Amino acid sequence: MTPSPVLLVVLQLCSLQLMAVAMPRCWLPGKVVQGAHNLLRDMGPRFPVQCLVYNANISFPDSALPSSPANRTQCRQVSWVVYESLREAGLLFEEYDLPVGEGGVNWDEQKFDNFLNLQDRLVEQDGRCLSRVNSSADLSSYFSNVTAVIQQPDSAACGWMALRRDLLWVLKSALQRHHNCFGWSHAH
Ligand SMILES: *[C@@H]1O[C@H](CO)[C@@H](O)[C@H](O)[C@H]1NC(C)=O
Ligand SMILES: *[C@@H]1O[C@H](CO)[C@@H](O)[C@H](O)[C@H]1NC(C)=O
Ligand SMILES: *[C@@H]1O[C@H](CO)[C@@H](O)[C@H](O)[C@H]1NC(C)=O
Ligand SMILES: *[C@@H]1O[C@H](CO)[C@@H](O)[C@H](O)[C@H]1NC(C)=O
Repeated sequence: MTPSPVLLVVLQLCSLQLMAVAMPRCWLPGKVVQGAHNLLRDMGPRFPVQCLVYNANISFPDSALPSSPANRTQCRQVSWVVYESLREAGLLFEEYDLPVGEGGVNWDEQKFDNFLNLQDRLVEQDGRCLSRVNSSADLSSYFSNVTAVIQQPDSAACGWMALRRDLLWVLKSALQRHHNCFGWSHAH
């Protein structure tokens, strides 16, 4: 018995639907990103002037984020820049200790811990689908510069503060300018 054309069409529609379910759009949940931003913003003082000298070493490539509201294709890049910045920062937080005490990094421990939990969730769960995006943006030189600065005892504290300042900029710009690139469902 040959399958009827109607059945074939129905089967085809079903498989398209399955594909749509199997390949959901890769959204980062806006509320979680906003929560991470707020914790990062509230966990310490503003960027100190004595650290400005390291701007020559640490300068986030602003052009990684589109300067006007992103279209669908550009949203992938926006999501990736947020994901990759959080991922690379997470690796640094894991690998290096923050300098403490006088002249160190005195961030609110509870807020920092809560930030790290959201950061981990965004990278390990929500953002997993972004790990294979081929982005034209290059953050590797930025992060190797940050690493060089935090490896030197004299400049470590400034390196961490510059990293926090730049992460804040990334999260804030992405959320404000590219609001539509995030998922805002009530489920999150
Ligand atoms: C999105 O915007 C970029 C830059 O403006 C443009 O090159 C690209 O064709 C646009 N893509 C879509 C799907 O509109
Ligand atoms: C990403 O780029 C690599 C080489 O640069 C290529 O082999 C791979 O197919 C690309 N992946 C996607 C999803 O475009
Ligand atoms: C990295 O540091 C060098 C100087 O050491 C500087 O010229 C370059 O602009 C820095 N790049 C980034 C992305 O911060
Ligand atoms: C900052 O960059 C200068 C060159 O621009 C370099 O000589 C210096 O070692 C860098 N400092 C750190 C802490 O990486």
